[in-house]
Amino acid sequence: MSNAHDRDESTAAQRVQAALADGDVHSGEALARASGVSRAAVWKAVERLRELGHEIDAVPGRGYRATMPHAPLSARAIRDYACVSPAIELSVHQELDSTNAQLRRDPPAGGTAGVCFAERQTAGRGRLGRDWASPPGGLYFSVSWPYRHLERGPAGLSLAVGICLAERLHALGVRGVGVKWPNDLWHEDAKLAGILVELEGDPTGACRVIVGVGINWRMGDEWRERLGRPVVGVTELRAGLDRNQVAGAAAAAVLQACDSVPHGIETLLRDRWPYHDVLSGRSVRVELPGRTVTGIARGVDADGALCVATAEGMQRLLSGDVSVRPSA
Ligand code: BTN
Repeated sequence: MSNAHDRDESTAAQRVQAALADGDVHSGEALARASGVSRAAVWKAVERLRELGHEIDAVPGRGYRATMPHAPLSARAIRDYACVSPAIELSVHQELDSTNAQLRRDPPAGGTAGVCFAERQTAGRGRLGRDWASPPGGLYFSVSWPYRHLERGPAGLSLAVGICLAERLHALGVRGVGVKWPNDLWHEDAKLAGILVELEGDPTGACRVIVGVGINWRMGDEWRERLGRPVVGVTELRAGLDRNQVAGAAAAAVLQACDSVPHGIETLLRDRWPYHDVLSGRSVRVELPGRTVTGIARGVDADGALCVATAEGMQRLLSGDVSVRPSA
């Protein structure tokens, strides 16, 4: 298949996806009209979308209906919603292995910042070497941000990203979202989003960070079961949101957090972290290489380290995998 032909089919699929985004039943003819393509192209587009993981029902005698509908991402719409400076590259890919991997392979030209979204990831990566599953509809993106130096390392950056994301989501009406140290957004102990911060280069000199964010959009029963832990999607917390608007707000949040780092994030952590900290006062278990720490979470210090009150005294933890222990 030629590239141009492939591009046309991809555009047709995006248009059909957009026309199905309301979740109503649409006849093949209506979809053809709305998408500016032939009936045969609509049929192909539906097949292509199904291959990409979209659930589309054929309703006998009536047409097609997307059972988990979502509008396609648009680089222009995200850029507008995020008010991204023209100096910052922003791209939307239909499929990538991982948006973090993409920005590592292909950094923004001229050492500037860049943002990369993917509708689908085939090898999404999570923290601590885990995989990150990417159900259709989720928002998957990474930001590459250059620093002249980053002497204190990127330790507090995932917290700053979490705070900025929670606040931007709140502004869109997605309420009750907090940050679980060091890299999750939670709503009532269910995971809404994950953050992966990777450093490229030596932090004592010119270096850059790649901040990857995955936000659940709509978690059907099948995905809930597959993931085997409590998860929640944006649409369950606030119905009717424009997916591109949420994508724009999320990208703006990460850019804002990255920009705040050279000015010091102590103030941000001191003044804003307490409002977002979902662990504070709770009994936690922290898995570290070779040891486990249990105690009561007592916020973070100026470096973003988690403070845990244990039987042996207060411990400062710079990394680790935290779980909340059921209250007695
Ligand atoms: C975690 O919770 O472990 C962090 C998950 C981070 C997932 C995002 S999705 C976009 C970006 N690309 C990746 O491969 N990972 C991050």
